[in-house]
Amino acid sequence: MEKREIKSVLLEYKSSTELSDVFQKLIDEAKQAASTAYAPYSKFKVGAAVLLENGDIVQGNNQENAAYPSGLCAERVAIFYANSKYPNVAIKSIAITAFTQDGFVKEPIPPCGSCLQVMLESENRYNNEIEVLLYGEDKIITAKNISQFLPVNFNKEMLK
Ligand code: THU
Repeated sequence: MEKREIKSVLLEYKSSTELSDVFQKLIDEAKQAASTAYAPYSKFKVGAAVLLENGDIVQGNNQENAAYPSGLCAERVAIFYANSKYPNVAIKSIAITAFTQDGFVKEPIPPCGSCLQVMLESENRYNNEIEVLLYGEDKIITAKNISQFLPVNFNKEMLK
């Protein structure tokens, strides 16, 4: 038996002012996206903003449904929209946040497993790493790619 340890690197910031202008803008767009989420059941309004390699920004937010599983997370709404509107442009980064009855989350929220899997597909499709920015009022976390959250993953190589 061999023990294999896997390390993830996440960077933590106290304020978005420590980030570049473009990342500050991306976070603002994610916050804006959260405000128009359709989340009448959970009241947990998630916003995502995707920065494309051509500089365009695409927003997405969670869309819930009375038949709960029919709803979709903010990250997948944003990524699917970006990949459908710009099928030849890679995604460079994604910012994510959530707004609750108490305002924006204090601690950043990580994407769910299904969203990570979709982000991983987009990385592989365009052969381009996606940088992740998770915004909370007390802390911002960044990671240089999806593997930091999903180090052991199922991907197209396994279908060969
Ligand atoms: N949600 C997202 O939009 N993104 C995530 O990564 C986690 C959860 C949404 C789904 C549902 O509308 C609400 O948050 C509560 O789970």
